[in-house]
Amino acid sequence: MDRESINFHVLTLFPDMIRQGLDTSIIGRAVQKGIISVETIDIRDYTVSKHKKVDDYPYGGGAGMLMQAQPVYDAWKSVSERIDREGGSGKAARVIYTTPKGKPFVQAMAGELAKEKDLIFLCGHYEGIDERVLEEIVTDYVSIGDYVLTGGELPAMVMIDAISRMVSGVLNNEESKERESFSNYLLEYPQYSRPEIWQGKSVPPILLSGDHQKIEEWRLEKSLEVTKQIRPELYEKWVNENQAYFEKKARREERKRKNEQRKARKNSSSD
Ligand code: ADE
Repeated sequence: MDRESINFHVLTLFPDMIRQGLDTSIIGRAVQKGIISVETIDIRDYTVSKHKKVDDYPYGGGAGMLMQAQPVYDAWKSVSERIDREGGSGKAARVIYTTPKGKPFVQAMAGELAKEKDLIFLCGHYEGIDERVLEEIVTDYVSIGDYVLTGGELPAMVMIDAISRMVSGVLNNEESKERESFSNYLLEYPQYSRPEIWQGKSVPPILLSGDHQKIEEWRLEKSLEVTKQIRPELYEKWVNENQAYFEKKARREERKRKNEQRKARKNSSSD
């Protein structure tokens, strides 16, 4: 069976930024192992202008410069033709344009994009890119949050990181990607490592009990607590999809309450 792998192709005016940002740590190791590849395409290499110009003033006036259509289009054409020649997935590679005007990037989107064989990222700069080339080549407009950055390179790197860790073999511990924040709307429970006491603060005793079921229950309760406090809208989603959990919990608490009542009655009748 083919090992899962993904090829990222980044159209950018700042290729060094992408290369340097992604060649260390877990992503760097995944590149070394050949599970992912990151190729940068310098848009400036495709300009037909004598002075290597890639930007110009916007029609109608306004602040700043726009990236022109021609170099972006030619850079995209060159990479997408090469992907086809090298036996891409058989369908045209998706082109993700990083922009605050895009669909919010969330964990589910990272998981979905991780199934692609090739992904092209288009990083904008200055005040943006001529609309006509966006209409021609972009398949997905994606934002990493409600704030404006100076360029699309950081968003592309953020997305590449989040997508890569969903690709099999990138993380050592396959399980960890499932358990972490957002895999089921919940934020992660707190974690502790050695020593058992640090600056007078102890690790919660339940984690030292060796009772795995109790530990799992505690972790879920902590996740619910922190999610309810910090991201109430995610908590509500979880609650709506996990009614059975609360029904089971209510039954468990009711049983406990009845047992305690029974014990108390027994004790008082034997006095
Ligand atoms: N480019 C500039 N700001 C951005 C953002 N928030 N998300 C994606 N791309 C961007």
